Amino acid sequence: MGMSLEGQKVIMVPYMEAHVPKYHVWMQDPALLQATGSEHLSLQEEYDMQLSWNQDPLKKTFIVLDKEMVEGKFVHGDPHVEAMVGDVNIYMNDLDDPQLAEIEIMIAEPKSRGKGLGKESVLMMMAYAVQNFGIHVFRAKIGESNGSSLSMFRKLGFEEASHSEIFKEVTLELAVTEQKREELSLLFGGVVTHT
Ligand SMILES: CC(C)(COP(=O)(O)OP(=O)(O)OC[C@H]1O[C@@H](n2cnc3c(N)ncnc32)[C@H](O)[C@@H]1OP(=O)(O)O)[C@@H](O)C(=O)NCCC(=O)NCCS
Repeated sequence: MGMSLEGQKVIMVPYMEAHVPKYHVWMQDPALLQATGSEHLSLQEEYDMQLSWNQDPLKKTFIVLDKEMVEGKFVHGDPHVEAMVGDVNIYMNDLDDPQLAEIEIMIAEPKSRGKGLGKESVLMMMAYAVQNFGIHVFRAKIGESNGSSLSMFRKLGFEEASHSEIFKEVTLELAVTEQKREELSLLFGGVVTHT
């Protein structure tokens, strides 16, 4: 079992088998599939995906819990399905640069959107990735019509690197400067780690 990371508004927990049914329900929504560039999977394929994500050394994924929705006290190792609202991933998929990570975020539950959970999850994931994998560039591929996501990543300092007319997708990147590294390290100092 990997670690859980607790911030102000979210707790990021490992993607566990018990999360799969709810995750699968989210991924029936065509709007979410489109926004995240995901394919429709059967429930069995989603279970296989959960296993493969946990075994792939080039990927790291966390389920995002909304702290306001955690029933009782948070227990590391308990999936807390009642509070799961989305996920955040990184994928070191650039063959030329193993320290470049593509980052993806989804706050699937509409009632948990617009509360700062997406932003905090991305920042915590970046801090974790810099600390643990020495990531020096983050990349986000976002549909050109996904205004909220584009706005969020731009606010976090990401800048446009390219725009594909064919895929109708914008690629944003953030280079981890010394100043950014310090900011993230400071942020990580306020994160509670549960192991
Ligand atoms: C995009 C998404 C991750 C934002 O998460 P969120 O928790 O709702 O966003 P936050 O509350 O943290 O807001 C962060 C910033 O996002 C932008 N934003 C969020 N909701 C927005 C909206 N409805 N309209 C415009 N901008 C919005 C704003 O810039 C906001 O900054 P602000 O609070 O200073 O105004 C979420 O809406 C989502 O998961 N959407 C569907 C999946 C998706 O598009 N994923 C991205 C693919 S990479």
